Formats: sequence, structure tokens, C-alpha cells
Amino acid sequence: MKSKRKIKLGVNIDHVATLRQARFTDYPDPATAALLAQEAGCDSIVAHLRKDRRHIQDEDVFLIKDVIGIPFNLEMSTDSSIVDIACRLRPAQATLVPENRKELTTEGGIDLIKKHKRVEKALRCLGKKGIKVSLFIDPIKSQIKIAGELGVNAIEINTGRFCQAQGKVSRGREVERIKKASVFAKSQNLFVAAGHGLDYKNVKEIQKIKQIQELNIGHSIICESIFLGIVPAVKKMISLL
Ligand code: PXP
Repeated sequence: MKSKRKIKLGVNIDHVATLRQARFTDYPDPATAALLAQEAGCDSIVAHLRKDRRHIQDEDVFLIKDVIGIPFNLEMSTDSSIVDIACRLRPAQATLVPENRKELTTEGGIDLIKKHKRVEKALRCLGKKGIKVSLFIDPIKSQIKIAGELGVNAIEINTGRFCQAQGKVSRGREVERIKKASVFAKSQNLFVAAGHGLDYKNVKEIQKIKQIQELNIGHSIICESIFLGIVPAVKKMISLL
């Protein structure tokens, strides 16, 4: 059934695996979390297979893709070993993100000027397998323009700076950047997703931007699910969109 909501929700379940990897146990299982998020009504499941495997493991992505009945969006770097895994996995979508070894989480969007060749190569490999690709980029017109030229159909706008901005003025400035970027991306016929750092409070400002078609949210939902359970935590986020 087609979602009646204005904005689709992709639930990132990485941090279920973070809890598991903290003790190298076999629980909690990210695939079970994915099924519960699906039951709660989200539109896709998102997981990031990092090169350092700090949370999601190779077996997880194959199991998640196997058990869910909604699209699987694999976040990944352009590293050739990860591209190979994605080509075997064939998720509905791959989202290319930058990855630095010591970062706590993804820091900023992928720089399509500096990483043009690597991105092009990954796009070629993933495209041959029929995998749709989205590019996680900062809300910058020149980056969006390059994304369009690279031939992708979708981008994900990095909301990280907005989420970290302190004070009304700088938050307002960041919302405006995201809004302008979304309008421009839409004018380039790109599907516009956004995410990173969104929670139950700050999502209210972002969901007002009518060009944004999808939000991908992980950490805040998984944190809330510790108290509420995954199904209510996902439903609570959906009720805000
Ligand atoms: N979108 C992208 C591209 C990301 O890298 C992440 C973090 O893995 C998210 C969305 C979700 O961010 P958060 O966990 O802060 O909600």
C-alpha cells in the first residue's frame, strides 16, 4: 500500500548492532529490529556497513535484506571492498557517504569535486548490478549540480550542521541552506532525502521543507526505543512527519 504521509521514513538500525558489538554477544539482532521498524510502518531500512565494522557486520546486511519486505538502503563508502559486497548484496539502494577512520559518525557529505573519480567508479559498478544510488552531500548548490551530472536520481542532504547549530540565528541559517538546497535539487529532478542527527525535536523544522521526500533517522529512534520499544519509537517519529 502506498504511504499517505508526506515524507517517507527510513530507519537506520546501526546502533542496535553497536549495543551488540559492545560485548560481542549475538544479541540484540539488527534484523529483528528492522522487522519491528517495518511493522511500525517505516518505508525503508537503512544500515551502514563501515569499513571498520564497528557496528553492522557483513552477515547482518545479507540477513536484513532477506527478511524485510521494504526497500533496503545500504549506506557505504566508495571503498572497492565495500562496493564488491554491495554488488553481491544488491540492495534496493546504496547511499554513498564519506568515511574517515576516527570519526564518531559520518562527518559531512561526500565531496563530489575531490572524490569525483572514486564516486564515478562506484556508480559504474553499482549501476551494472541495477542498484539505485543516492549521494549524501552537504546543502551546497555546486555539489548538487555535480550529483545531477553524475546521473544519480537521488541525493540525501546532510542535516548534521543544522542539528549541531546552537542558537536561533545559526539554526535558522542552516534551515535556510537546507531549504535552498532542496529547492535546487528538486529543480534538477532529483529525489530529495535528508538526514543525520535528526531527533524528535529538531525534525519538526526539517519536515516543513516541502521538497524533502524522505528522512533517514537512526540514533534518536534507537535511543528512544530503549525506553519505549522499537515499534512505539518508530511510530512516534512517523507521527511527526
Ligand atoms: N543518513 C546518513 C547518510 C548517515 O550516514 C546517517 C548515520 O549513519 C544517518 C542518515 C542517520 O543519522 P542518525 O543516526 O544521526 O539519525
